[in-house]
Amino acid sequence: MRRLSSANGGNGMIGEYHNAEKALEYLARADKIPERSHGERMVLELLHHPISRLLDLGTGDGRLMALVKVAHPNCEGVALDSSQTMLDKAHERFRNAPSVTVHCHDLNESILSFGSFDAVVSSFAIHHLADSRKFELYKEILTMLTPGGVFVNLEHVSSPTEKLHDDFLLATGMTRETEDQTNQCTAVSTQVDWLNQIGFENADCFWKWRELAVFAGTKPANSFEHSNAPKLPLTPNT
Ligand SMILES: C[S@@+](CC[C@H](N)C(=O)[O-])C[C@H]1O[C@@H](n2cnc3c(N)ncnc32)[C@H](O)[C@@H]1O
Repeated sequence: MRRLSSANGGNGMIGEYHNAEKALEYLARADKIPERSHGERMVLELLHHPISRLLDLGTGDGRLMALVKVAHPNCEGVALDSSQTMLDKAHERFRNAPSVTVHCHDLNESILSFGSFDAVVSSFAIHHLADSRKFELYKEILTMLTPGGVFVNLEHVSSPTEKLHDDFLLATGMTRETEDQTNQCTAVSTQVDWLNQIGFENADCFWKWRELAVFAGTKPANSFEHSNAPKLPLTPNT
């Protein structure tokens, strides 16, 4: 079976994480993902401003939310995921943390109703969405961020060549057969371009190891856009 490419029109609804076995298998190896801690350190470094409200997209068992909460203990956290197994694990992790709420939400649907945030983070989740939805999601994030707020994504991105993809698989102990067949990875340069096109500022890739990358952008501090819909009918300019 071939992995889904973002160009094939996949709608991202065939999430492997709805299968409890797959979700638990991921959680069992989550700590062993090579170089992950370097990516997570970069995420924390980019969250240097005060944060009152934090949104984590595709939170899984709440790993990234918990890390950010250590650095920003007083912030209110909102964590979204659509896998029941992951939601159960996240609820368990935050059962004594009333400042974190965990919601079942499919990222293929608008997130605008969750309100405004000073920071939006995500790790290894958005690559499960089709490119068109990634782009719409990034527009929604810009709308929801408070002026000066930041979006930071630790993400699985695509390799420029099949050889480099195979090298990544080898380095991470996977094969074409065992890799997540629902991945819809996109080049980090494309996604940084999208952030610029949408209106983020200081967008860049801040860390990368093979197919793992941290990219981020900031909502302009002089921006007053808080409408429920992006004003420009933007489409991805790839
Ligand atoms: C590789 S796991 C990463 C989990 C966590 N962020 C971490 O870093 O450990 C991908 C997560 O994205 C979630 N996810 C994938 N597609 C989703 C969707 N359409 N809506 C909401 N969550 C989704 C999965 O349920 C899973 O928890």
